Amino acid sequence: MESKVARVRGQFLPFALPLIGQEEIDGVMECLRSGWLTTGPKTRQFEEEFAAYVGAKHALAVNSCTAALHLALEALKVGPGDEVVTSPMTFTATAAVIEHLGARPVFVDVEPATLNLDARGIEGAITPKTKAILPVHFAGQACDLTTILEVSRRRGIPVVEDAAHAIPTRYQGKLVGSFGDVTCFSFYATKNVTTGEGGMITTDRDDVADRVRLMHLHGMSRGAWKRYTEAGSWAYEILAPGFKCNLSDVASAIGIPQLRRCEEFHARRREIARRYTEAFAGLPGARVPVVHDDFAHGWHLYVLQIDSSALSIDRDGFIREMMGRKIGVSVHFIPLHIQPYYRDKYGYAPDDFPNALAAFKAIVSLPLYARMSDGDVDDVIAAVRDIVESHRR
Ligand SMILES: Cc1ncc(COP(=O)(O)O)c(C=O)c1O
Repeated sequence: MESKVARVRGQFLPFALPLIGQEEIDGVMECLRSGWLTTGPKTRQFEEEFAAYVGAKHALAVNSCTAALHLALEALKVGPGDEVVTSPMTFTATAAVIEHLGARPVFVDVEPATLNLDARGIEGAITPKTKAILPVHFAGQACDLTTILEVSRRRGIPVVEDAAHAIPTRYQGKLVGSFGDVTCFSFYATKNVTTGEGGMITTDRDDVADRVRLMHLHGMSRGAWKRYTEAGSWAYEILAPGFKCNLSDVASAIGIPQLRRCEEFHARRREIARRYTEAFAGLPGARVPVVHDDFAHGWHLYVLQIDSSALSIDRDGFIREMMGRKIGVSVHFIPLHIQPYYRDKYGYAPDDFPNALAAFKAIVSLPLYARMSDGDVDDVIAAVRDIVESHRR
């Protein structure tokens, strides 16, 4: 049944938009005028500020979170025949990098409440081949790091955190970035802090930082990036067949002011999330996210669940209605175990991870970004209410 009281915006509200200010524009202009476009002083500054902000010993800028995860696992010597325990409720990159290294992603189901990897399931998934545990801080809410780190210490298996959604995310009052052995952030265009494309690796481990530094830029001897400066030398050594994952100064010029405004962006995201929850809590047919602490939550995503048992439409129908009202929404994520590649390679059945599967059928991510106006938020609230109320069974 189509709603009779459809409120349609004049203009489409995108699912996500970055908030770019004059400082980002000035920083890029300064960079372009300087003539130094690739990795250089701005990237060094971005790394230093990032390390200081999250409280990690090392921060290394790379060109994506995918690269960060790949380099982190490589530095921990994950290789052919190894296993990495991770969540099925994630973006393809989390597991793809495990495959790139010739290892196997071993999925552990998520907690129905938070859609984070259920830490109590990790121990049962560990085998002698397990070389890393890769939790994903889903939507920006930290996983149960106490349990994860306890298992890691007891079993001697390092933790790589996929923190693509998790800036600023706090756990027991401290920012995510130095809990596990390595933490990987994303600065993709839709992320809380963006450089268009980009990522950051943080770690307190000198051995991991050294290996990542080497492998992120061709496996060339240290300082090779300086070879076109006065201080540089033409000579270099290739110590390993490295990758090409460095972040340009043009991107870092965007990242520096973005990082400085991260808490301000977060306050706005939190405010929008609070308004959504106030509007939708108690609305039959819609389930609001379970949040342990709304300040600690990074609020990258606001994931509503559509309870189709109470409505005459399902999640897909709900999305069509939202799009019909010119409101962009998304789904995070289609669980990896039902994707053809993983399903066929490892013989997974949809029910193997019942919590991820059940969540997938219900989830829809609403627009949530600092650039949204109060009117935009009002429109999203009105549309959700209207759809749910006009399709109540
Ligand atoms: C959970 C998760 N991990 C990793 C990534 C990959 O990030 P990037 O696009 O920076 O490579 C994403 C991107 O959306 C993500 O959502």
